[in-house]
Amino acid sequence: MTGQVNDPVKEVESAREAFEREFERFARFTSEAGGGLSSLKDAESELRGLAELRVRHAGKKSAIAAAKKLIGRVPAEQRASFGQLVQTAEAHITDSVNAAELALKTFIETARTARESIDVTIPGRRPRAGHLHPITLMRQRIEDIFVSLGYAVEDDREIETDFYNFDALNIPEGHPARDPQDTFYTTQGHALRSQTSTVQIHAMQRRGAPVRMIAPGRVFRRDTPDPTHNPMFYQVEGLCVDRGITMAHLKGTLAEFVHRLFGPETRTRFRPSYFPFTEPSAEVDYSCFNCSGDGCRICKWSGWIELGGSGMVHPNVLRAAHVDPEEFTGFAFGLGIDRTCARIYELDDIRLLFENDVRFLEQFR
Ligand code: FA5
Repeated sequence: MTGQVNDPVKEVESAREAFEREFERFARFTSEAGGGLSSLKDAESELRGLAELRVRHAGKKSAIAAAKKLIGRVPAEQRASFGQLVQTAEAHITDSVNAAELALKTFIETARTARESIDVTIPGRRPRAGHLHPITLMRQRIEDIFVSLGYAVEDDREIETDFYNFDALNIPEGHPARDPQDTFYTTQGHALRSQTSTVQIHAMQRRGAPVRMIAPGRVFRRDTPDPTHNPMFYQVEGLCVDRGITMAHLKGTLAEFVHRLFGPETRTRFRPSYFPFTEPSAEVDYSCFNCSGDGCRICKWSGWIELGGSGMVHPNVLRAAHVDPEEFTGFAFGLGIDRTCARIYELDDIRLLFENDVRFLEQFR
């Protein structure tokens, strides 16, 4: 070697050694077992590491590239062997990197294919299907019966003005039902309807007379929750206004309704009652569907179960809805859906219906 050059052979050898040291961790990938690669992510990161190593040891600024530039500067008699040395070292580096790269790419390709392939023989996971809530099922059964009797189904608002909530239903100022202790009021002075009877007025105003409709819906009362009370529950209102309607029509209609809902042997009983918007008024009971009136746990040993309130529409209510009470008469009734639902499904507590416990609700599929 001449003094012009800094022992170029040593430079090549140390470049090769430096490469060997760094390449050691990649060399294992060329073994048959894949060098212990476990995940696609690992292999991708090793591939990036390998690309950086290639740049460091075979790139333009690598020691080998620098050694190549020295070939022309070594004495002529040593040039061939030095050139050979550089070429062998460079070929060793690129061959080693290429082999490891190929192994990594093969592993990545196989892992990607495995990830993207679908095994059509694996049993599918069935999506959990929802189903109707027991209150909805009950409401639909009630609707079906009245629709088949010629009733329209009305849906109306849950927030009401004083007029529809009270005045039009013959509930004058000073009546306890208007007391904030009895009713939920909104900040604008509207009230959440405490019964579906408000729909009687809307329906008559909309349709005039004659009219035959039911109105299922949510109502709100300041009742403390207990096994038979909820502050929010469902009622279904019924209204029939026409010429010559009497109490007999009311009794016949509700008798037919309970026959269809609970069976033809079911009897009805009307007890005198009071509602401001009907005169006369009556509570309606039906004979227990379980014991036929003998007394059992479901009817609390009375033989009878309460269905709801009813009566002949008060003339003041007809007038408030612009229906002439001299020409038309009508009956109305309001039934509690939650309690009827609880009786039919033998629930001890109507609060179960709104606790949203899936284990409970799933039984109504
Ligand atoms: C009324 O609400 C009258 N509007 C019914 C009516 C309509 C009478 C048309 C005349 C003409 P009552 O307050 O009794 O009536 O309620 C009717 C039904 O709602 C009850 O029989 C009961 O089944 C149900 N109910 C009442 N309060 C609750 C409550 N807190 N939780 C669950 N159900 C209730």
